[in-house]
Amino acid sequence: MAAAVSGRPATRQGNAKSRHLENPRAIGPPTPGRARLASWHNRTVIDAALRAAAMPPFHAMAMGRAATELEAAGHRILHLEVGQPSTPLPRVAADAVRRSLDSPLGYTNAAGLHRLRSRLAARCVDVDEHRVLIVAGASAGFTLAFLTLFDPGTSRVGVIEPGYPCYRNVLAALGIELVAIPVDPANRWAPTIEQLEAAGDLDGLIIASPSNPTGTVYDDATLAMIASHCRRRGIAIVADEIYHGITYQGPAASILDHEPDAFVVNSFSKYWSMTGWRVGWVVVPDALVDIVERLQQNVYICAPHVSQVAALAALDAQEELDGHVERYRANRSLLIGGLAAAGITDIAPADGAFYVYAHVPHLTTAIGIDSLGLGRRWLHELGVAATAGVDFDLQRGHEYMRFSYAGRGDDIGRACELIASWQP
Ligand SMILES: Cc1ncc(COP(=O)(O)O)c(C=O)c1O
Repeated sequence: MAAAVSGRPATRQGNAKSRHLENPRAIGPPTPGRARLASWHNRTVIDAALRAAAMPPFHAMAMGRAATELEAAGHRILHLEVGQPSTPLPRVAADAVRRSLDSPLGYTNAAGLHRLRSRLAARCVDVDEHRVLIVAGASAGFTLAFLTLFDPGTSRVGVIEPGYPCYRNVLAALGIELVAIPVDPANRWAPTIEQLEAAGDLDGLIIASPSNPTGTVYDDATLAMIASHCRRRGIAIVADEIYHGITYQGPAASILDHEPDAFVVNSFSKYWSMTGWRVGWVVVPDALVDIVERLQQNVYICAPHVSQVAALAALDAQEELDGHVERYRANRSLLIGGLAAAGITDIAPADGAFYVYAHVPHLTTAIGIDSLGLGRRWLHELGVAATAGVDFDLQRGHEYMRFSYAGRGDDIGRACELIASWQP
């Protein structure tokens, strides 16, 4: 399915693997050729199983599960681990859902409800609605992007570190070579041209702005630099813009302003407070629309119809949703102040999204544990759930913790007090 974009040739069509797999169960006497094929096939199956078995946990979700198990056993837990708004579906969306329940909510077209696609296209500059496809959350969106753009075994894809772990984990599960591009606080955790150059030849680059976990918002100059570097080198850009709308110093710019052929992933999970509704959208280059639609048809048919109804109505809930952003702003001050009072001051800029990414070597390396160990101890000793930095950065994350301030202000304040009183 790998497709040509920005002048790059399609590479997966007709490759050796797909030709051999055409008929792996053909009946007939064993021949040396068939024996070789059988052993090749077994090896491929085993390789795939090993890749799947090697999939690391998404530590934020694993911490969430441990926290809810403790809650079920009667413990009080303060949740700062998962990036999940604590607010419900916007009111107008809930009304629309109630009204829709008497109508048949069947499959929609794979690409989604026409009206929703056209409303979303109208929010972008120069994007025709046929380039917007509704997907089952950003998670489905970037998986579709990876399946469309990259080839197992041959593609090299750059991922910014620290970054959202599921890009890395899904790319690895698909057998795509990962190239970590470490960024650092000296440049507010945004990539520099030198860091991109150091990654060498790439087929793709995954970016996210605002970023999870650092909250970094790429300015126009950074997006222009990324776009021109990728254009020069024929690198496909996948841009996760899921935290657009949640920024504290003016709106975040889109990669589409600099590279109209970027594959953009977005979602109703965060700004729209709809994580459980599993609905998002992608803006894809013209040449890929048909391929992405066919993938959707085959992989999961369509995003849930009722969620698309909710999403369409939620587009008119701006006032209510901007109110949530103001609450995040207040929570952000509360968290930054509370962490400072607990001696945690080395933090990323937090200009967007709803996370504080903090460097805590005095609570990890200095006392002989890593961030996973620290997370476990805080959970069991304090009832505070936060996410270990190793989720986001395999090299340096053992000294970092990520705190989400999407939840309730009271919980954030109390969690900081408990952390301040913690005795290693
Ligand atoms: C950067 C980023 N992308 C994607 C996702 C997943 O989004 P969705 O719920 O739309 O699948 C998350 C969830 O935390 C995220 O932080």
